[in-house]
Amino acid sequence: MNDASPDAPRTTRFKTRIFSGIQPSGGLTLGNYLGALKRFVEKQNEGIEAIYCLVDLHAITVWQEPAKLRQQTREAAAGFIAAGIDPERSILFNQSQVSAHAELAWVFNCVARVGWMNRMTQFKDKAGKDKEAASLGLYAYPALMAADILAYHATHVPVGEDQRQHLELTRDIAIKFNHDYGTDFFPVTEPLIEGVATRVMSLRDGTKKMSKSDPSDMSRINLTDNADTIAQKFRKAKTDPEPLPQAIAALEARPEAKNLVNIYAALAGTDPQTVLDEFAGQGFGAFKPKLAELAVEVLAPISAEMGRLMQDPAQIDAILGRGADRAKAIAQPILDRCFEIVGMVRSRRG
Ligand code: TYM
Repeated sequence: MNDASPDAPRTTRFKTRIFSGIQPSGGLTLGNYLGALKRFVEKQNEGIEAIYCLVDLHAITVWQEPAKLRQQTREAAAGFIAAGIDPERSILFNQSQVSAHAELAWVFNCVARVGWMNRMTQFKDKAGKDKEAASLGLYAYPALMAADILAYHATHVPVGEDQRQHLELTRDIAIKFNHDYGTDFFPVTEPLIEGVATRVMSLRDGTKKMSKSDPSDMSRINLTDNADTIAQKFRKAKTDPEPLPQAIAALEARPEAKNLVNIYAALAGTDPQTVLDEFAGQGFGAFKPKLAELAVEVLAPISAEMGRLMQDPAQIDAILGRGADRAKAIAQPILDRCFEIVGMVRSRRG
């Protein structure tokens, strides 16, 4: 079933194609924006073929109120479009509308080893103390994520730092599948974890990731926050009494200060040293209002456009439906071929 010439190197046989996903399990945060969405737009604008997915099947690995899940999926789609994803150039859709994801995930459940899953730190974090009560889906989640990516033979996956381990597992699954079935059918995907905002931290605790699931809304900036809320959250953000230093190295022992400097740099499209060159010697009383001002300047147009798009949910649904049709056209032949490789009888017509 090997469809490549035997001497073609595994990683160059595949056309460059990006896939990435975001869970619609809450509102989009500044972490999602700087670590993922902003970079998705850059990749799209570099002219790379890109597929972006609202992973609703992943979201239900923890309980989601059905009406809220639908609302959040539409709102996240609006966020993508408002941030600059063009649903004509890129493919934008929600995962559950393309059944290939769940079907390929089953095959990968049978490729991945229990021992591999046991090493996933995100499962340990999310399941918390009572692992017995976690859903089976939460445990199997990384195999579904591998299916998301490999159903499109995606070669590159832009994500934040917290997804690195899942992408390593995706590579392991592709390698084991290829090895077990004596093929080079699946690409060994490259993670793209780049820039200064690959790990935006909580505003209340510089050692914890900013997350949509944190119980404190003050810990994060949401893309839908208004200017006053953004200013208030930065004003109340945890910091220390020292002024900003001149040298980056001096931020190492100051996680909250480092986080705010990194956020400023990412929003301004510059690097942390340039930010320190401007603000060294100044205290947070001076720096925080400037940071809030910059955040509002970047986020206000996005949140206004999201609000406008959300007034027409039918239009958003139509965009997701068209995206799903285009996604299916790529994924279905790959899934069919995978089933053939595995040894399934495929005899239906049409
Ligand atoms: P999710 O929904 O938790 O996050 C979506 C994207 O945002 C990034 N991100 C952050 N980046 C920097 N700082 C933060 N504080 C921060 N919080 C989130 C994440 O790294 C991610 O890139 N399992 C994935 C969704 C997924 C996926 C995929 C991604 C499902 N299938 C296939 C890539 C390819 C997740 O839960 O992301």
